[in-house]
Amino acid sequence: MTVHRFLVAGTDTGVGKTEVACALAALLAERQERPWVFKPYESGMEQSNVPADAQALRQAAGNWQSLDTVCLYRYRAPLSPAVAAKLERRPASFRRVLRTLHQAEGASMVVEGAGGLLSPLDGQHTIADIAQALRLPVLLVARNALGTLNHTALCLEALRHRRIKVAAVLLSQSAAQADISQKTNHRWLSQTFTNVTFLPPMPFIDAHQKRLTALKRVLSRLM
Ligand SMILES: Nc1ncnc2c1ncn2[C@@H]1O[C@H](COP(=O)(O)OP(=O)(O)O)[C@@H](O)[C@H]1O
Ligand SMILES: [Mg+2]
Repeated sequence: MTVHRFLVAGTDTGVGKTEVACALAALLAERQERPWVFKPYESGMEQSNVPADAQALRQAAGNWQSLDTVCLYRYRAPLSPAVAAKLERRPASFRRVLRTLHQAEGASMVVEGAGGLLSPLDGQHTIADIAQALRLPVLLVARNALGTLNHTALCLEALRHRRIKVAAVLLSQSAAQADISQKTNHRWLSQTFTNVTFLPPMPFIDAHQKRLTALKRVLSRLM
């Protein structure tokens, strides 16, 4: 049986990682692959006690996993996990995260990062270390707006430096405002990084169901 494994990392926070990770999980669930999903660190739960990203992922994957295995560390502060952990005096164990993710060995899995690719998880580790430790190909989500040429190049350089496989890059327009860079970002990047797969860019789509359908269509190219 073919298995599909992805770590959905961002060039930044708020770029569309959860949307992409949920669409991937839904696609895998539809293919009866019973995907494991993980959002090992979730911060910014000031308004509620439920980790919203982890909950959405769990649901997209078919609700078969317990929320506690999806999300190990939850923080109230809207800060990177390392900083929130320090503030809330609840340090995370990177080894425990790896042990939990190892449960999915040999199976399809989707892991959502926290913040951007090099956001600190603790004093020693970043999201990139998870990809490296588990040999997970990264699906890099980038904001389709002015600034993305730099952010995407920085992340691709960091991934290459660590010898982490790049499954693909997806430019997503997560904000309604149009900006003229959106006409050229995709072409520029795909012509510059010719050894990297750039999926067709995702436009801004306000309606949830329509957005999910469009995302699934684009991501099905990776199956
Ligand atoms: N292509 C898109 N069109 C419209 N809204 C989007 C799109 N991609 C993401 N969003 C919205 O942008 C916000 C941030 O996306 P999210 O997936 O939560 O980002 P991240 O997980 O990287 O922080 C969410 O409100 C999400 O619904
Ligand atoms: Mg998210």
